[in-house]
Amino acid sequence: MERPPVPSALELQVKARPLPRHVGIIMDGNGRWAESRGLPRLDGHREGSVSVREVTRAARRLGIPAITLYAFSSQNWARPAEEVAGLMELLREYLESERSEILDNSIRLNAIGEVDKLPRYVREPLERLIADSSHNTGMVLSLALSYGGREEILRAARGLAEAAARGELDPAQLEETDLESRLWTQGLPPVDLVVRTSGEQRVSNFLLWQLAYAELCFTDALWPDFRTDEFLRCLSQYQGRERRFGLTSAQVQREDPPQRAKA
Ligand code: IPE
Ligand code: IPE
Ligand code: MG
Repeated sequence: MERPPVPSALELQVKARPLPRHVGIIMDGNGRWAESRGLPRLDGHREGSVSVREVTRAARRLGIPAITLYAFSSQNWARPAEEVAGLMELLREYLESERSEILDNSIRLNAIGEVDKLPRYVREPLERLIADSSHNTGMVLSLALSYGGREEILRAARGLAEAAARGELDPAQLEETDLESRLWTQGLPPVDLVVRTSGEQRVSNFLLWQLAYAELCFTDALWPDFRTDEFLRCLSQYQGRERRFGLTSAQVQREDPPQRAKA
């Protein structure tokens, strides 16, 4: 095991304040990073996996309970076949190269999305590492693969409709928790912060239900340039925000909200 780096002043400052329970990251800008250097887009994706490692390590060191990385969307299947194949191969390499890092650091790997659409050479090592890390309690690392928020909500709605048709539930009694329990993120902590890199300010079908009250951090850094310090800056921004959940600032500061909305 490598010796952990000496924490920067910013890291110590961030660690001393309340951290998000769950951070979602839209890792965008790999293609532009490569194209601006005259390199094939895949080189950007490869460099992006270094950021994945750094950000995962930083999150684990800080004690963030869960992170979810948007690695491949349902819509990304429509990219040129060569890029899709390259991304799948990188994913396979990632699962191999990060296996010991994940197991040695008590990280539990999880996947959200239509995982059965992935090629077998990705699905098998993915499922193996998910199973082998299933007892780890240090942090949950979820990879959003073939993931779409609308697809996720539609699937949950279909499940509820089917249960209603079988007479197992009464539509009039449905609660938010009934739908939530059918989302792929079921069991994970509420998403407190979503980060998007590369200057784009949109959510691109990521965690649509879950980000209802999440704080958003948009940064111009392209994903391969998004390393520990960039991540710490987003966390520090988050720590400076006041989350009101529909209440007034005075109510939040008194900390006696009548019914504090659950995040
Ligand atoms: C994000 O980088 C990775 C995936 C979507 C798989 P992009 O490939 O979208 O990079 P840009 O947005 O074209 O620069
Ligand atoms: C979102 O990035 C998906 C991932 C980061 C995996 P995209 O590059 O696919 O999003 P758009 O097309 O710019 O909205
Ligand atoms: Mg993009």
